[in-house]
Amino acid sequence: MSTLITNIAELMTQDAEHRVLKDAAVVIEGERISWIGPASAAPAADDAVDAGGRALLPGWVDSHTHLIFAGDRTAEFEARMAGQSYSAGGIAVTTGATRGTSDFDLTRLALGRVAEAVSQGTTYLETKTGYGLDVENEARSARIASTVADEVTYLGAHLVPAGADAEEYTDLVCGPMLAAVRPYVRWADVFCEQGAFTEDQSRRVLQACKDAGLGLRVHGNQLGEGPGVQLSVEFGAASVDHVNYLSAADIDALAGSWAAWQGTDADGATGTRGTVATCLPACDLSTRQPLAPGRELLDAGVPVALASNCNPGTSYTSSMAFCVTTAVLQMRLSVHEAVRAATYGGALALHREVGNDVDGERAVGSLAVGHRADLHLLNAPSATHLAYRPGIPLTHAVWRAGVRAR
Ligand code: NIG
Repeated sequence: MSTLITNIAELMTQDAEHRVLKDAAVVIEGERISWIGPASAAPAADDAVDAGGRALLPGWVDSHTHLIFAGDRTAEFEARMAGQSYSAGGIAVTTGATRGTSDFDLTRLALGRVAEAVSQGTTYLETKTGYGLDVENEARSARIASTVADEVTYLGAHLVPAGADAEEYTDLVCGPMLAAVRPYVRWADVFCEQGAFTEDQSRRVLQACKDAGLGLRVHGNQLGEGPGVQLSVEFGAASVDHVNYLSAADIDALAGSWAAWQGTDADGATGTRGTVATCLPACDLSTRQPLAPGRELLDAGVPVALASNCNPGTSYTSSMAFCVTTAVLQMRLSVHEAVRAATYGGALALHREVGNDVDGERAVGSLAVGHRADLHLLNAPSATHLAYRPGIPLTHAVWRAGVRAR
């Protein structure tokens, strides 16, 4: 079954050549893109969709969310808006609510959040554990996450539970808890920050998870300068997320991590990836932190991802469009750069920007023949409207792996 989507006013591919096509068309066959080009040259297909002069983008790739939770933290948010500062301690509130919720309800809640994200154009999504914080509940969160998200990250090292000894808890994270979650996860993460895990504890977690064959990510430099970025680069982490407080040496280290990267060419050759800087602007606004220096990172040659960080404490939104809008209006990214960070950048941060089109591991985050047919049709003639019309819901249609999802 093939579908031709034609009469696309602007097609932002975010491919290796950064092509933006006018008066374009796309053909989907099954879950893959089989043709892209000028509408006037489009081949026939079983079915046709008239895009009506709208803009087509890759679906958003949300590379940082925390969707496995129960409860909300409205009171904490209100206190923050009244002047209190964010601290990691709120994680314990969500952990209590999450532990007290059945598997069925946790799954239902998470699926509802995924559906909300997809309805706004997200087509590939990572989520984390981190509100279980004991062996049984972290394993349960990982298992549920593996049924609702495309990528799952183990975040047992989110907070040392009240009353626990930090070193003993770190041993648990590196030992029995890691073994229990391992069947369900591809990634591991550590919250390396004052009030969460120290540099030494973070190092132990990263080494144990690396030894267990997991890819690495780090929550770093969110609440102040610290060792998160340098640790990420040292361990070859796929991404360091938050990055609000960066020294010149941090930016240099991130840029240096990409020295052996040749970029993604049409055949999917890549070289060695470095560490992506993932900016979380909705979180920055909700915690009243300075916005991450996305402009400076891009200018230094560091690949940037934008992600929602959807969670009940610091960023209760799954709106990638809001992140893109903020990145343009407040972080001084161009529209093309912001859309790229929210699509290709997220894919790069999840090592999913390439796919060989043979074994089903299709690239996401960009539109090219053989890539997964993850498409986001805006109710606007160009992607510029995402920033030009802030707050207006602009998602018109969504295809996820070739299936119409909205
Ligand atoms: O990414 N920084 C750590 N983790 C989350 C916040 C979790 C919470 O406060 O519940 C974040 O912002």
